[in-house]
Amino acid sequence: MTDIQQRIRALRDELNRHNHNYYVLNAPEISDRDFDMMMKELERLEAEHPEYADPLSPTRRVGSDLTKGFEQHVHVYPMLSLGNTYSVEEVDAWVERTEKALAGSREATIVGEMKFDGTSISLTYEHGRLIRAVTRGDGERGDVVTDNIKTIRSIPLVLRGEGWPDLFEIRGEVLLPWKEFERLNAERAFNEEPLFANPRNAASGTLKLQNPAEVARRGLDAYFYYLLGENLPCATHLDNMMEARRWGFKVSDAMRRLHSMAEVDEYISYWDTARKELPVATDGLVFKVDSLKEQLNLGFTAKSPRWAIAYKFQAERALTPLRFVSFDVGRMGIITPVANLEPVLLSGTIVKRASLHNEDIMTGLDIHQGDWLYVEKGGEIIPKITGVDTSRREPGAEPVRFVDRCPACGTPLVRQEGEAAWACPNKYGCPPQITGRIEHFAGRRMMNIDGLGEEIVEALWKAGLIRNIADLYTLTAADLERLDRFGQKSAQNLIDGIEASKQVPFTRVLFALSIPNVGETTAKKIARTVGSVDRLMAMSAEELTAIEDVGPMIANNIIEYFATKSNRAIVERLRSYGVQLEMEEDTSARTDTLAGKTFVISGVFTLHSRDQYKQMIEQNGGKNSGSISKKTDYVLAGENMGPAKLEKARSLGIPIINEQEFLAMLGM
Ligand code: IVH
Repeated sequence: MTDIQQRIRALRDELNRHNHNYYVLNAPEISDRDFDMMMKELERLEAEHPEYADPLSPTRRVGSDLTKGFEQHVHVYPMLSLGNTYSVEEVDAWVERTEKALAGSREATIVGEMKFDGTSISLTYEHGRLIRAVTRGDGERGDVVTDNIKTIRSIPLVLRGEGWPDLFEIRGEVLLPWKEFERLNAERAFNEEPLFANPRNAASGTLKLQNPAEVARRGLDAYFYYLLGENLPCATHLDNMMEARRWGFKVSDAMRRLHSMAEVDEYISYWDTARKELPVATDGLVFKVDSLKEQLNLGFTAKSPRWAIAYKFQAERALTPLRFVSFDVGRMGIITPVANLEPVLLSGTIVKRASLHNEDIMTGLDIHQGDWLYVEKGGEIIPKITGVDTSRREPGAEPVRFVDRCPACGTPLVRQEGEAAWACPNKYGCPPQITGRIEHFAGRRMMNIDGLGEEIVEALWKAGLIRNIADLYTLTAADLERLDRFGQKSAQNLIDGIEASKQVPFTRVLFALSIPNVGETTAKKIARTVGSVDRLMAMSAEELTAIEDVGPMIANNIIEYFATKSNRAIVERLRSYGVQLEMEEDTSARTDTLAGKTFVISGVFTLHSRDQYKQMIEQNGGKNSGSISKKTDYVLAGENMGPAKLEKARSLGIPIINEQEFLAMLGM
């Protein structure tokens, strides 16, 4: 072995050890700075000596921007589910049944553990190295998500210690910790993106992302609870898990041997409340027979092992009277029934409204006027109506019926074949649809007009100042000042915001128009392919469907949109006000102003998106980098920049600039 090879190996071992200290044991031994220096040295050596490359090197955890569809893999051992119950009595009955079935072995030791509420994963290790990570899929086969899994720092890529079988699988749950979940949703709310309903959806959504760099950013974690293979080191489940912990896996401290039914019951009553303090979501407990030999004796039913049972925590539930059902009208005309409730406290928040989603779900609940409704908020963050207490129903109470006319404009509703939702077809005359589209137009990811939210749009509408998106550009500060809500300054700010929106690029203008089913990504693809609204208006269905992501339905929607006279008039007016209706030639903007300068972008921005800043840097001759090092010239910082990055930039003496300062560098 050469010196270089030895050094590389030593660095990898050390970095793996520190990753484990930090992410599994929560006990770092060295500073972030020292860690980063080691990482940089390893990166450098690996770049200089590609012959010693290793896909499982700690440098490979950051994820690349490469995307590809997922391969499928057939599970060697199918991924089964668990029998489950909400009742302690049924758990007791299972303990009894199990002990009886094992008569002769007397001490059926049970292991109690958390039922983690994330998304399950099966990892395969060969000679101590991670070779594959597969999702549950349909239980028989799943998606290969190894690259995404590698970004989870608490998962060992190369095992520590010794004594692992040459080939084994380990199963566990990938989770988004509460803190990360809240951070991610706050960021999504800020960007006006749809929120994740709960950490489970967020974790499974994240694992299926095609971009490992984005996965890395989201802060997933993983706990392991099941070891499978031919030559496992120990004869009991718990001992195997303790071995796995020594090899570097995160195994919950809550895992415990229980020697009697009384201990099982005690474990349940303790965790029923204590689980609320855990950093990750759990939806119950799992009890497993500890001895592998006994597990083998008990075997499996078609769907689940007889040697295990899940006890599910009761979701928090409240009972409260219905005041009335209202019907919301969205910007696309979709009607959503909403239960308006007597306010009730549920898991720390007051619940007043809960969506009933659509007619089928509403009638399925068979709600009558004045009914007492059960509201639940389990792992779901959004409250849900789960049923009716019919014993409290007033005699003669009428069932709540779905409306057949639009509650806002009175137009008879229509329902598309095969769709669950009713819609108001009066697109251009129904006020909440129009104001909804104006709000959408002003949104952060569209025209980004600050201060033009729901209430202001409502007020402008009521005052008769706007009837469509084009009218925004004719507003004057004097118009606004006549309304109660505006002072001189706020009126001028809004006018400035509207003026600034004329610089928003065509990709976002197209999204802002609210053409049905033309979302952010589709709008971008169309704008980049077609180049201008004039060309788009002239295209046939055939030409439109040739664009990536555009099928016959979207093509039709586009044609219909531009065939409508009022829409064409709006587009022409937008053009006359100077709104961008074609792609900018990006060569015209090229300069050398930032030549030789390397930037790191961090945090959330308000004036332009992160991607726009990246583009500006490149168009002006600069370079973007993902991590701060001595080579970084500037850190472009938005809000909520990570404290570690901030500290690092400060310690290296790198100038930290804000949006305004950056734009000033470009003379903007
Ligand atoms: S054992 C053969 N242990 O629950 C059974 N599963 O309903 C193997 N889960 O798909 C699973 N925590 O995603 C086991 N401590 C735990 C668990 C657990 C969560 C999930 C897992 C599985 C599902 C079964």
